Amino acid sequence: MNQLPQIRYEATSRTFHLMNEKISYLMKVEELGKLIHLHFGQRVPHREDFDHLFIVKPHAMYSSVVEWNNAYSYEAIRQEFPDFGGSDTRVAAVKLRQENGSSMTDFRYQDHRIFAGKKTLPGLPASYVEEDAEAQTLEIDLFDELLGVTATLSYTIFRDQGAIARHVRLKNDGSQTLFVEKLASLSMDLADADYEWLQFSGSWGRERHIKERHLQQGSQSISSRRGNSSHNHNPSVVLKRVGTDERQGEVLATTFVYSGNFLMEAEVDTFDVTRLQVGIHPDGFCWQLAPGADFQAPEALLFFSADGLNGMSRECHSLLQTRVAKGYWRDRPRPILLNNWEATYFDFTEEKLLAIAKTAKDVGVELFVLDDGWFGERTNDRAGLGDWAANLARLPEGIAGLSEKVEALGLKFGLWFEPEMVNKDSELFRKHPDWIIATPQRPTSHYRHQYVLDYSRPEVVEAIHQQMAEIFRTSKIAYVKWDMNRSISEAFSAGLPSQQQGEVYHRYILGVYELYRRLTEEFPEILFESCSSGGGRFDAGILHYAPQGWTSDNSDAISRLKIQYGTSMIYPVSAIGAHVSIVPNHQVQRVTPLSTRSNVAMFGTFGYELDLNELTAEELTEVKQQISFVKAKRETLQQGRFYRLLSPFAGNHTAWMSVAADGNEAVIGYYQVLQEADAPLTWLRLQGLEPDSWYQLAGERYSGAELMQIGVSTTLPSDILPEERSDRDFASKLWVLKKV
Ligand code: GLA
Repeated sequence: MNQLPQIRYEATSRTFHLMNEKISYLMKVEELGKLIHLHFGQRVPHREDFDHLFIVKPHAMYSSVVEWNNAYSYEAIRQEFPDFGGSDTRVAAVKLRQENGSSMTDFRYQDHRIFAGKKTLPGLPASYVEEDAEAQTLEIDLFDELLGVTATLSYTIFRDQGAIARHVRLKNDGSQTLFVEKLASLSMDLADADYEWLQFSGSWGRERHIKERHLQQGSQSISSRRGNSSHNHNPSVVLKRVGTDERQGEVLATTFVYSGNFLMEAEVDTFDVTRLQVGIHPDGFCWQLAPGADFQAPEALLFFSADGLNGMSRECHSLLQTRVAKGYWRDRPRPILLNNWEATYFDFTEEKLLAIAKTAKDVGVELFVLDDGWFGERTNDRAGLGDWAANLARLPEGIAGLSEKVEALGLKFGLWFEPEMVNKDSELFRKHPDWIIATPQRPTSHYRHQYVLDYSRPEVVEAIHQQMAEIFRTSKIAYVKWDMNRSISEAFSAGLPSQQQGEVYHRYILGVYELYRRLTEEFPEILFESCSSGGGRFDAGILHYAPQGWTSDNSDAISRLKIQYGTSMIYPVSAIGAHVSIVPNHQVQRVTPLSTRSNVAMFGTFGYELDLNELTAEELTEVKQQISFVKAKRETLQQGRFYRLLSPFAGNHTAWMSVAADGNEAVIGYYQVLQEADAPLTWLRLQGLEPDSWYQLAGERYSGAELMQIGVSTTLPSDILPEERSDRDFASKLWVLKKV
């Protein structure tokens, strides 16, 4: 058992030290009351002061805040909550527009509290503890005397992870109405800029590809202004030291527990101090803060590891899987599902669905999921969104009848929804044309003929809640796929006054969270899987309610290597929805072996998305074997420790492995893109084993040290494939390692 986390405050030097066995976070309050960042990284021994780390070096052209002292500029100090409009001209953490037109603030230390455990964030997803002993929290109040506004900075350090959770709350105790134009959840000035910045970017079907660059003077950022966290940039950034790789080196990471517009920025100043910030994107954001009101910014998580990227990912996975995701399914092995989307698209009858479900049951599938097309007038993508009642022409006994028939076959039943959207051709829209997000007198864009419902309005959330809850109450629903297939444009709400139009994006996502909260509390045993045209809203905020997410609409096994590899940097295997689909693949037309499709998908929440009745008897036998393998190993795969071994971004081969939580077994996946003539002999060095333990692999005994330092030959036969089939394009191998 790890020791308790500790937060120490040294009153004489006004130093805060948050520490656990792995990390230290150091701050101090300087003479004028500004909160100074001193260190975040590997644990250092405590001492009464770290004042020697606080050096203010004078620089030309820096404006001084102290009369008669030319050297004291806020631009020369490393801050935790930099103001706008003062002597620090770098990017600010906060901007508050006042009645006189100024947005300048001057926040200074006023008070602090240290307590065991962690508070919840009203209306927002966040990391949590199950017992107070798991974490300690420090709240620091910074006060702007002129405005009467308090900014409370919250820092939680966890006992078991090298992780800090941060957020900020503003409280207006002054007499004027203010407008929050920017509020970063996290701002931190790192001592230097000697970092490689990794971001996870792409597009529909190409999510979370790793892009890398060295930090440079000036600002570098990723963001979303789309209303969803987006396919384009995942709200996560990794900063690693030069030379850090998967196995070794220092690395810090941040991920945002938020699903809407975001900005993650590193501004490197002329003297190579790096200001890292995470928050709601200030574009399109302006929050009215009346006297007496408060505003809560979402949570940002910070991670550090000295054990390379895999070490960093382990800290992320552990926290996201066990203390961000929540609910009944959090620690449970996930059901093996069959989804009908790529099998039938909109073209199905109840008979056809049941025929697929029957074969699914025969091969061992546990959950049948009916995707889009079951409701309203929805026989194509032009109609029906918003009308969440079964189309009785297609499903004569409704969802209740179909779900019972599926259960009678011995399967659980799951259903697709897209609760935030509406087609103009729907009863909902005909009744409530003003319920969509649209700017008056401007053209309103659509995507896929659909419009975004205005979730900033509680009555809209309520109406959709009623429809969904009715189905959950009257049918046998074990799983819900919650989709969101377009971004927000022309953001404006008919339900808000002019001075609050800058609140639409944030209120929208608060409405989404509210619906998720209500449904997951009322129907705690339903497994929710998030989706947004694949991975367009794959973030720690949604993960709080939906412990798994559809990673990408691209189900091609070779494309998935990059997508799942990039995703795994931050997100655990238990969150990564992955299915075996038909070939030629529908997104890229590639033909890959059935074994490879399964060997990739099993490093995710495993399922099938094809018409099993179109497979040959031989293929069905293979599917059966795959399913029984996953059933036997899914605890290791989904609840184990995941290690990346070979990167698809670096070469022709990818490899990764999951080690069971108790260390007794591991499953290793090895994948080849193209077959080469007369290929070299290669060795795969494993990770996460005990150096002094002995393991059995392909009939041979090896020490953990040998497997990790020397490696295994990739010519070893696969554990579930005949050898000759690995000698081709898109081949893969799977090995099971057992401790002896
Ligand atoms: C999105 C999802 C798919 C499928 C379709 C249905 O594209 O990502 O998995 O559910 O919608 O329309």
